[in-house]
Amino acid sequence: MNDETMDNKNIIIIQDLKKRYDDGKTAALDGVDLKIRKGEFVSLMGPSGSGKTTLLNMIGALDRAEEGNITVAGHDLMEKKDFSSFRSKEIGFIFQFHNLIPNLTVSENVQITMLETEVPHEKMVQRANKLLESLNLGNKINQVPTKLSGGERQRVAIARALVNHPSIILADEPTGSLDSKTGDIILDILREIHHKENVTLLLVTHEPYVADMAERKINLMDGKIS
Ligand SMILES: Nc1ncnc2c1ncn2[C@@H]1O[C@H](COP(=O)(O)OP(=O)(O)OP(=O)(O)O)[C@@H](O)[C@H]1O
Ligand SMILES: [Mg+2]
Repeated sequence: MNDETMDNKNIIIIQDLKKRYDDGKTAALDGVDLKIRKGEFVSLMGPSGSGKTTLLNMIGALDRAEEGNITVAGHDLMEKKDFSSFRSKEIGFIFQFHNLIPNLTVSENVQITMLETEVPHEKMVQRANKLLESLNLGNKINQVPTKLSGGERQRVAIARALVNHPSIILADEPTGSLDSKTGDIILDILREIHHKENVTLLLVTHEPYVADMAERKINLMDGKIS
């Protein structure tokens, strides 16, 4: 173990990370160096195709890099083999298009995140519904997502990301598919969570005014932090 992996101030430590697609023809990440402190709120901007989603996928262990180092919440992701408990304990993912399962109810969509934990079934239902109530969705818990508005769906996605009390929230353009007023409500919720729960928040956005809300702004350009 080197000094970097012992670092307890930085929850995300990335060194010279490289990820290629198409048999190496596309360098989605081309040597990324990045450290994010525990509890920090960082915004990530960059042109389309610059590697933002790829970087989030690496941090959340949804995909693997070929080269470099990446340590998240003390886990060396280049070495690790089984990511399911890491993901459910440490990571809350909010996608641009919420990715809710259409034939499950709102409550069930939140509960599925807890399936990989030890939480008993009744407790799962309780926790999901309480969180949904706090996000003003108490009257929608038995509804299916296709019957909700865009903003309501994104609030369900936020509940799903939060229900295991992750240490890191990765939000990939969480307001990208919403009108600006609904988007602002979602941003207020995220800011409040960051503030109250001291969760680390990495937020991808194309909007400069959204990026300005963060404590630190970073830019990706052609797979590198610029
Ligand atoms: N599964 C994949 N297979 C092949 N190429 C991919 C794959 N995922 C991403 N890429 C390529 O990797 C590069 C980075 O993509 P990525 O999705 O990370 O960009 P992005 O910054 O999130 O863009 P956007 O702002 O449009 O969401 C792009 O050139 C993209 O075409
Ligand atoms: Mg993207």
